[in-house]
Amino acid sequence: MDNSGNTFNRPSASIARASLPITQANHPTGEMYYDPAVLEREKQVIFGQDWLCIGRAEEIPNAGDYKALRIVEQPVLLCRQADGRIAAFSNTCLHRGVEIANGSGNAKEFSCPYHGWLYGLDGQLIGAPYMRDAEGFDRKACKLPELPCESFQGWVFVSLSKTPPQFEAFVAEFAEKFGYIDMEPMRLGIQRDIPLNCNWKLMVENFIDFYHIGVLHKDTIGRYMKTTDVPYETRTRGQVFINEYDAGSHTKSGEVFVEPIPALKGKPPRFSQAGVITPNVNFFVRPDYVMLYSSWPVDAKTMVMKQFIVFPRHVVESPTFPEVKRQFLEMSDKILGEDFEMVESLQNATKARHFVPGRMSRLEKGVQHFILHNLDRIYGNPEMAAAAD
Ligand code: FES
Ligand SMILES: [Fe+2]
Repeated sequence: MDNSGNTFNRPSASIARASLPITQANHPTGEMYYDPAVLEREKQVIFGQDWLCIGRAEEIPNAGDYKALRIVEQPVLLCRQADGRIAAFSNTCLHRGVEIANGSGNAKEFSCPYHGWLYGLDGQLIGAPYMRDAEGFDRKACKLPELPCESFQGWVFVSLSKTPPQFEAFVAEFAEKFGYIDMEPMRLGIQRDIPLNCNWKLMVENFIDFYHIGVLHKDTIGRYMKTTDVPYETRTRGQVFINEYDAGSHTKSGEVFVEPIPALKGKPPRFSQAGVITPNVNFFVRPDYVMLYSSWPVDAKTMVMKQFIVFPRHVVESPTFPEVKRQFLEMSDKILGEDFEMVESLQNATKARHFVPGRMSRLEKGVQHFILHNLDRIYGNPEMAAAAD
């Protein structure tokens, strides 16, 4: 693979040790978690290519509803069109690039706050003050660049690439594993962004590290889980699935908050299911809600985690939902707080002078799979490249 323009070297010995069978493998050295050149590479080959989950369709239910966000520094404007479709645009004014919309709301048109260029919901430039004498300037030929945007059961995905991988192929395993839940009619009940002092990959890894659960979370989700034999199912593109385990909802007792989702009614009381949808999503199922966590780099050593909790619609619209939300957040803060301390300490270890990464446990098979996928994408796979020659 061509690494031209990048300043990093491939840590070949570390990659070789991490790539051994799990019973022989070592954790990799820390470059991939702190090197700014690695993050630049990830922005190109990972975040610049893949489908990225950025939210729920019900966040913008009506024509003209919009949401502006920055995805790995790229300004994106999601907007529900007059025909009901969700479109994504580069949120960069065609004049000097200022973001034409901020936050979220409903609009009939977008007026750039800097010099007032005006856009329709479809991104078409419909007004540009004092531009009549700009020679050869054809307002009608000007439209905001549109980004590929698709959805699956209410989850909205965009790609920053003009030529992304085929969406159906990308979403096939997500659909295979979680499509039975029928999430389209469900509703977003909780969404918050949490800044963390660690590399984005450490949080994704932590969420599939079931090795730690019985120790770190012994008083919460670790109470019921048997972590001695985790049935990790590893798939292409670094994806990992755990099809069934015993964890419990985020209540004090581990019982459900509300009655289960219809598709989950026949499941055991503390039924749980998890998956990593690369590049940056951890997905979890409980009998009465689903959780999506996405991890976004800010710089090499800091990130923002987005938490999306989706319940059946009648639960979110019920007068008792504020209490469900309060209890959920109380437990969530406890569990995640335990994790956050660990991932921030892991980040620190990546530069600890006397630390040599140790051996992997067989309970880290999912973590290893995700690590190797990223090592491959960041540094390339010279063995495979050589074999293809
Ligand atoms: S930057 Fe938008 S009108 Fe000038
Ligand atoms: Fe954890």
